Amino acid sequence: MPSAAPSEHRPATDPAAALGQAFRASIAARTGLPDTACDPQIRPSGNPQFGDFQANFAMALAKQLGTNPRQLATDVLAATDLSGLADRAEVAGPGFINIHLSGSALAAALDAMDTSALGVVPQVATHAVTIDLCGVNVAKQMHVGHLRATIIGDTLARVHERLGRKVWRENHLGDWGLPIAMTLAALRRAGTDLGSLTLEHLNAAYRAAQLEGRDDAAGLVAARGTHAGPHRIAELEAQNAGAAMAQEDARTTLVRLQSGDAELVAAWRRLIECTMREVFETAETLGVHLTAEHSRGESYFREELGPTVEAFVKAGLGVEDDGAIVVRYADRERPMLIRKRDGGFLYATTDLAACRFRVQALKSDRVVYVVDARQRDHFKDVFDAVRMIGWHRLPDGTEAQLVHLPFGSVLGADKKPLKTRSGENFTLKALLEEAIERGTREVRARSANPDAPTAGMSDADLAAIGRAVGIAAVKYADLGTDVTRDYVFDLDRMVSFEGDTGPYLQYAHARIAGILGKALDAAAHARPRPRIVVNEPAERQLALALLRYPQVVCDVAEHLEPSRLCAYLHGLATTFNGFYQHCPVLRCEDAEVRASRLRLCAISKHVLKDGLGLLGITAPERM
Ligand code: ARG
Repeated sequence: MPSAAPSEHRPATDPAAALGQAFRASIAARTGLPDTACDPQIRPSGNPQFGDFQANFAMALAKQLGTNPRQLATDVLAATDLSGLADRAEVAGPGFINIHLSGSALAAALDAMDTSALGVVPQVATHAVTIDLCGVNVAKQMHVGHLRATIIGDTLARVHERLGRKVWRENHLGDWGLPIAMTLAALRRAGTDLGSLTLEHLNAAYRAAQLEGRDDAAGLVAARGTHAGPHRIAELEAQNAGAAMAQEDARTTLVRLQSGDAELVAAWRRLIECTMREVFETAETLGVHLTAEHSRGESYFREELGPTVEAFVKAGLGVEDDGAIVVRYADRERPMLIRKRDGGFLYATTDLAACRFRVQALKSDRVVYVVDARQRDHFKDVFDAVRMIGWHRLPDGTEAQLVHLPFGSVLGADKKPLKTRSGENFTLKALLEEAIERGTREVRARSANPDAPTAGMSDADLAAIGRAVGIAAVKYADLGTDVTRDYVFDLDRMVSFEGDTGPYLQYAHARIAGILGKALDAAAHARPRPRIVVNEPAERQLALALLRYPQVVCDVAEHLEPSRLCAYLHGLATTFNGFYQHCPVLRCEDAEVRASRLRLCAISKHVLKDGLGLLGITAPERM
């Protein structure tokens, strides 16, 4: 992997980084190996009783050197300077080193982390990252499948941006080719006024056009062979004649569109506008950063398709097959078609051109395609072809990492892909409306309690919180699941304020806001900031959890796994609850400890808010 976040590059405020440095030096001194060969293997310890971290290098290294691991660990530990870092460190078992960090080291690291960056260090990278997300098709309504392509992509974009990377969000719209020509042709035949077209209308026209264009040649052959009767045969003949006519109309429409017929191009633009209006609206509802500037659809590459095929032919990689041009692979039977016999180009041809553009023109050393798992073979073929021809190389020779992030399906309660009662795909809009309604109901019900922080709030304010809760519910449930896995869409579970849910995290954040709000005294706002003291076990656990944040952000980017961030935030909220239970904050009598605990609260709130922000989830102050 060329320049994507190396995990060794640990954030400066991470005590694991400081431990790593100290041990690396002493291992190198003890063994005479170069620094780079001395990975101390610092890991968080599984049980706080045995310390906060472990150094696990001794077993593998001793084997390599042919010495005793316990002895090696003991020698290295004796030579390691842990002053100011650890209170205690001891060798255990076959040669683990258990390390107990000092409270002052934890406090100092937290103090350093307590800035707007929260310890997240910008990556040193000269190249950009491209995230292919959303990918709607023009004339079709967004359905639940687009939810994942949109929000997983948005989160990955945010995380890379948070790490200081230039990110290109590319919405590869299906806005070119036969399906859209078919819809255009059908709308024209019906004399529809495109000026006042709604997407719902357009979507219906799209489906009708698809049906109209579908012949049933096999059905006709079968009907004739089985003596299905003249009536059935006549019906099928009529359907096939109608389909042939619709197909012919679509083909001529496409040719005229492709050759730039002004009237058709204007109509085509209108369809795109009509579709995108709703896409942008939905993106806004979802809190996803996706606007017109991110739309670079299939049509953007239309002039590149011919040259793309020519380049493959010239390189000897595109070969003729019965009048068509295909790319063949050494390790599989399946070729990739890049030009049809009739000269038409394909989805794959466009992706070849787009991939080259992203690497070579947008200068991305990482191109991530957030597209559902059913397109796995497609991307394998495209990426292999891109590498075969060398288009994965940036102008400066860097090789880009091309990744398909195949996501699983959203299922209904019956464990089948989520459908409406009448068997249709849920539109994303309907789904989000329901989630918002549920969230709002929940928030209103809670505000009825006179002790609730939301008691007496205006209806508009409650509605805004309800909206945030509904959206958080849907997004967190999705992002919290392994990208590749299917999950069941269960609104009851998702909007709950308890459990592993988005609202639980929002609530944890709002609760801390409430604590801080009650502490409006000099200590909370003292300048210079009050000293952090970390003594109690629950304070240590909270400090350790907070300090892991920067590394988690790096890991999410490196492994492209938003669920890691969700799991981290959930763990943090739970750790915070433990802290709050064991360590009185507002009622703490020692003024210095109270001030320190308030600061721990403030940093916890900040991390929760920042982390939720990376998931594109808002964190209300009151809930
Ligand atoms: N429009 C495509 C579809 O609905 C998704 C586009 C994904 N991105 C890409 N570069 N192929 O299947």
